[in-house]
Amino acid sequence: MALSTEQALALLLILNSAHLTAGCSAQDRVVVSGSAGGRAVLPCSYTPTPRQDVEVRWHAYTDQGGPVLLITSKTPSAPIPAQWSGRVKLSDEVSSGNASLLISELRLEDTLDYLCDVWINGICVTYRNVKLTVQACPPLDYVAVSGSAGGRAVLPCSYTASPGQDVEVRWAAYSDQGKSVPLIASKTPSAPIPAQWSGRVKLSDEVSSGNASLLISEVRLEDTRDYMCTVRINGICVTYRNVKLRVQGPPKRDSTTSRKTTTINKKTRPSATPTTRPSATPTTRPSATQKTSPCPTQQGNAAAQRRSYCMKPL
Ligand SMILES: *[C@@H]1O[C@H](CO)[C@@H](O)[C@H](O)[C@H]1NC(C)=O
Ligand SMILES: *[C@@H]1O[C@H](CO)[C@@H](O)[C@H](O)[C@H]1NC(C)=O
Repeated sequence: MALSTEQALALLLILNSAHLTAGCSAQDRVVVSGSAGGRAVLPCSYTPTPRQDVEVRWHAYTDQGGPVLLITSKTPSAPIPAQWSGRVKLSDEVSSGNASLLISELRLEDTLDYLCDVWINGICVTYRNVKLTVQACPPLDYVAVSGSAGGRAVLPCSYTASPGQDVEVRWAAYSDQGKSVPLIASKTPSAPIPAQWSGRVKLSDEVSSGNASLLISEVRLEDTRDYMCTVRINGICVTYRNVKLRVQGPPKRDSTTSRKTTTINKKTRPSATPTTRPSATPTTRPSATQKTSPCPTQQGNAAAQRRSYCMKPL
């Protein structure tokens, strides 16, 4: 919804018809963009002169069409529409000519036309129309995460939480063919997922407070790939992130001393051997590995017995 100069002047007439003069000059209309959850500065300025009585006002044109007062420098703490409550602030330098408005924790519905008008000694001196566009689904920085086979990895993702929102976090992995494969959705956490990750992926316990990270436990070499987090609020995508996970394997074993090395590995890194897929370590003689149980030979090792890998026949 573009605001014409005529509309702006009509508004100014409504605002203060008694004092409107031809001296109320228009500043160039500007377009400002921001990202949901981020902040935006809507620029406006005037020429200050000493000992003047200045009032800066900002209005928003809501979808209902009528302008609503967001803030005035005379009564900055006056109540304002709930949509912007606690999120709008005038520049700290109003007295030196900076009449800009700061909007924080941007929401998609902040995408509107705004109007700044500046009054000196009760006379309008300047006004500006600003169009704000809030980007729907801005990406978070791409990150790379590394993990060790058998350990756990946290794939970070976050969003700006506010109470009463209907939030959904989804994680997907990219297959070797580049296809996105759903791993977890916060609304249907127990939906079936590909066997590779079954029982090993979990969302952060703090999803409702903005932590949308994914935990992968007992990571495997084949977990090395790209993942994507998507956050939707009230059904609208608000952010997404691509995360690259690289899983490092256990130390290489020399084929001639494989048994001995395995014994050492067991003592130093008990988790490394059982979670490694034999086929994923082509440097190890497959025959030797498969004939020898990858599970610790000591019976009664509770931790080892719990591993499903060890319980399955090879
Ligand atoms: C005006 O104030 C805003 C908010 O403090 C600031 O971001 C902006 O850079 C200032 N503009 C100028 C021209 O100083
Ligand atoms: C998010 O949750 C994960 C898993 O619980 C945790 O490891 C991580 O530190 C949390 N991140 C932040 C920023 O709190």
